[in-house]
Amino acid sequence: GTVATGAALTPLLGAASASAADATAVAFFTQAMPLPQVIAPSSTTNGVDTYNISIRKNTKEIVPGKLTEVFTFNGGFPGLIRATSGRPVVVNQYNKLDMPASIHLHGGHVAPEHDGDPMATIAPGGVRTYHYPNQQGHAPLWLHDHAHHMESEHVYRGLSAFYLLTDAQEKALPLPSGSYDVPIMLREANIDEAGQLVYTMDDFMGRSTILANGKAWPYFQVAARKYRFRLLNSTNLRFFTLRLQDGSPFVQIGSDGGLLEKPFSTDTVSLSPGERAEVVIDFSRYPVGTRLVLENTEGPGPAELTGKVLRFDVVKTATDSSSVPATLRTLPALPAVTGRRTVVMSMDEDGRPHPQGYMDGKVYDHHRIDSTVPWGGSEIWTVTNSNQAIPHNFHIHLVQFRVLERNGNPPGPAEAGLKDTIRVMPGETVKFQATFDSYRGKYLYHCHMLDHAAMGMMAQMEVV
Ligand code: C2O
Ligand code: CU
Repeated sequence: GTVATGAALTPLLGAASASAADATAVAFFTQAMPLPQVIAPSSTTNGVDTYNISIRKNTKEIVPGKLTEVFTFNGGFPGLIRATSGRPVVVNQYNKLDMPASIHLHGGHVAPEHDGDPMATIAPGGVRTYHYPNQQGHAPLWLHDHAHHMESEHVYRGLSAFYLLTDAQEKALPLPSGSYDVPIMLREANIDEAGQLVYTMDDFMGRSTILANGKAWPYFQVAARKYRFRLLNSTNLRFFTLRLQDGSPFVQIGSDGGLLEKPFSTDTVSLSPGERAEVVIDFSRYPVGTRLVLENTEGPGPAELTGKVLRFDVVKTATDSSSVPATLRTLPALPAVTGRRTVVMSMDEDGRPHPQGYMDGKVYDHHRIDSTVPWGGSEIWTVTNSNQAIPHNFHIHLVQFRVLERNGNPPGPAEAGLKDTIRVMPGETVKFQATFDSYRGKYLYHCHMLDHAAMGMMAQMEVV
């Protein structure tokens, strides 16, 4: 393969910079990418980790020299909770904002009263206790706001945190660990002259500043060895397709529901809003001094801004005893199918000023049950995006599903593991199988482009 040195790659960066009006004002790769702020339990007695979290405002330096007001869990932008399968977590969420909030554990198997239902909000000044039993395997889950009609703005302002659930099976693998295992939350923002976040519904083009762990276009210093990166797309609208600047391959090892059965080599990784992917990048092929941009090739532009994500700077050598095993896990065989249903996602695309989003032609109504699902069943859901030009994606609470088909073809390796969120591009159809054997009750399914969810593109199932 091509050996790319810092000297060879730096001119490429120069050539790619500055043509959009504000691109010249942006300093790329001048700030170090921080790690997410770890939120520690306040007690760990009786086999339960209890957290006291304040949902509160904070200010952060997202772009150099400006302080931006953000919404946070305990001040972190972003935060991170570490949990272990079989060890329950209890979170007391204190709402210190002046508006209601409702906190959802995305990808978690939790009882309906702890799922962060849009209507089950925490009033300003109030507290709500969420129980997370963690009776599921390892998975890169995340916490985010889900308050009715406010979820998109709240998440945009910062209410999202990693919730990394591990288990003995994952821990036993020789994958890169410790400081070589790095969670990266990717997102977008529209930041004004004063450094403040601008929220306008469906602001597809304005949100062109790309953040990694809360910093705009940071650099991240690495050693010339293997790293595991846990990527989460916490944007409201933006789809990413990431590649290394020199086009060289890396290994994808995981998706929404944890490790894949088998790793595979690829030169791109794609993430729609809410999706996670885990990759191993081996920097040992680069000489110390190499600077390598992680690029995004998926729109919308301006590409001179949104085409860059962060820069890896190889600054030292290091020993490396990690490896990526040929088999990471074995997933259980799919149970017999007990039912089938279809879901059609759509949004007004006639240019009207206030478009609405629909699931099966209906705007979300929390009084309505859209699908009644028998408990214990295993169903095939066929989800179609009937729009001509608007991308969507589909997220279902409570379950991790297995993709059977995308547009009539078997899924690619990135979608062959456990999933809870999946892209559905214009005209596409995705078919998956989900087994409803954990809790009974009401749960949501929706487009995870949260601006679309806030426009009504959300529905409710009841597992009975
Ligand atoms: Cu990540 Cu209903 O949400
Ligand atoms: Cu959508």
